[in-house]
Amino acid sequence: MPTAPAASLYEVVLAIHIIAVVVAFGVTFAYPIMFAVAARQDPRGLPLLHRIEYTIERMLVNPGLLLVVIAGVYLASKGHYWSDFFVQWGLGAVVVIGALVGSVMIPTSKRAEQIATRDLAAGGGGETRVELSDEYRALVRRLTRVGTLLSVLVLVTIFFMATHTGA
Ligand code: HEM
Repeated sequence: MPTAPAASLYEVVLAIHIIAVVVAFGVTFAYPIMFAVAARQDPRGLPLLHRIEYTIERMLVNPGLLLVVIAGVYLASKGHYWSDFFVQWGLGAVVVIGALVGSVMIPTSKRAEQIATRDLAAGGGGETRVELSDEYRALVRRLTRVGTLLSVLVLVTIFFMATHTGA
């Protein structure tokens, strides 16, 4: 029976690159559903969701992004892709993603956690129907806008990576 040839190191690193993309960004596409369900069903869960959001960004998105870059650098060097558009786009994308996660997403979700906690305490704490402040809504709008931009950027980057043609 013929045996399949062993995967090359390049293929293994490519698999690591793709796994890191899934681990870093997969869950982020589910955030809008989580927040919509919490806001409708029980807003008391919102502070915890914001805490989960920024903890995921610290523990999964940032390290995942680092692994994407390390594996990407190996692939670009080994495959002689440095002058290709898709690699330059990828480098730009990781810089923008890293900067927006660190300077907007993490601090804004921390602030949203604090303000939601304050609003819920002011509203009595026991009810499932509570009035959240304009300040909280403005923070959520920023998280939604920047989060959507990041999701689109990830999808466009995957498109450029997957459709590139030879060196
Ligand atoms: C958010 C950032 C990134 C995402 C989402 C991403 C995604 C992907 C995906 C899904 C593939 C597999 C494509 C396929 O096999 O058809 C891939 C391949 C690749 N990526 Fe990335 N990537 C990112 C960043 C980078 C960076 C920063 C570099 C270089 C420094 C890079 C270099 C490469 C290379 C060289 C390949 C292999 C192309 C091939 O062998 O055909 N990527 N990337």
